[in-house]
Amino acid sequence: MHKNKLVVVGVGHVGSYVLADAMKTGLFAEIGVIDILENVAYGEALDQAQATALTYMNNVNVRSGGYEQCADADVIVIAAGPSVLPDPDNPKGEPDRTLLTKTNSAVIREVMAGIVKYTTTAIVILITNPLDTMVYIAENEFGYPQGRVFGTGTMLDSARLRRLLADSYDIDPKSVSGYMMGEHGSTAFPVLSHVSVGGIPFGELASYLQPRQDISDPETVKTRIISAAYDVLNGKGWTNAGVAQSAVTMARAVLLDERSIYPASTTLRGEYGHDGDVALSMPCVIGREGILKRLPVTLDPWESSKLGESIAFIQAAMRDAKT
Ligand code: 2OP
Repeated sequence: MHKNKLVVVGVGHVGSYVLADAMKTGLFAEIGVIDILENVAYGEALDQAQATALTYMNNVNVRSGGYEQCADADVIVIAAGPSVLPDPDNPKGEPDRTLLTKTNSAVIREVMAGIVKYTTTAIVILITNPLDTMVYIAENEFGYPQGRVFGTGTMLDSARLRRLLADSYDIDPKSVSGYMMGEHGSTAFPVLSHVSVGGIPFGELASYLQPRQDISDPETVKTRIISAAYDVLNGKGWTNAGVAQSAVTMARAVLLDERSIYPASTTLRGEYGHDGDVALSMPCVIGREGILKRLPVTLDPWESSKLGESIAFIQAAMRDAKT
């Protein structure tokens, strides 16, 4: 009998949170844990295994080991490599994800080489930063089938957007539909032309709800979302809860073949005039086979110019990833 299986690669601040969240979904019968620090992987798996004796968890078979664990995995989440840290010389500043490009390109190449020895069918979800460059490497250098590898991308930035809009209107963020597109990071931009609240387009909201703060200017919204990441990072030193939940939500869409629409990072194949030269986030239909469809939504002039800036930024970062 097939048992739903997740493998988490890299169990630092982010991967351990993915593991903890995944344990509580009730979706997985087996979870494999891989880390370059084998003792850490062992300790994390053991800690979670002990927790399954308590009532809020199903009896997940959680173990640490090597890449052989990927052979029968349904979903693999990669959170390997160092995370973005606050800049000690500029504690209120914007930490730069692209400082990690060289280090984490090597990490992702090693991880993908390990994975493809055992599977090219599991759906691979990347979290490692700088995310879009890591997706580009994973998707294009290992012959992995198209659509079966993608990144959490602006799923997290979009959660922050929905939270901001919800707080502004004093409503539940789950009633806000909308997304950020482009790079996961400092050039991500809100696509306000496609935001709706309870089915009401963003531009018509003023007739129904008064915001607590003016959020009509997309540039201001963009700045607030970008700094929302840095507020967490500069507060606690890392971010993990939002991105872990993003990955687990996407893993659920895969496992249950939900065909949910989430913003995910993949390599463009003709969308917005780009073909195979950049990976970034746009809304995608996600199901059992991974990315089933990309939805290159029509953008207004401000959004189009921000997409151009985001593409230029990602492509500049990608140059540091060359072998
Ligand atoms: C985040 O946006 C740092 O990429 C990480 O939370």
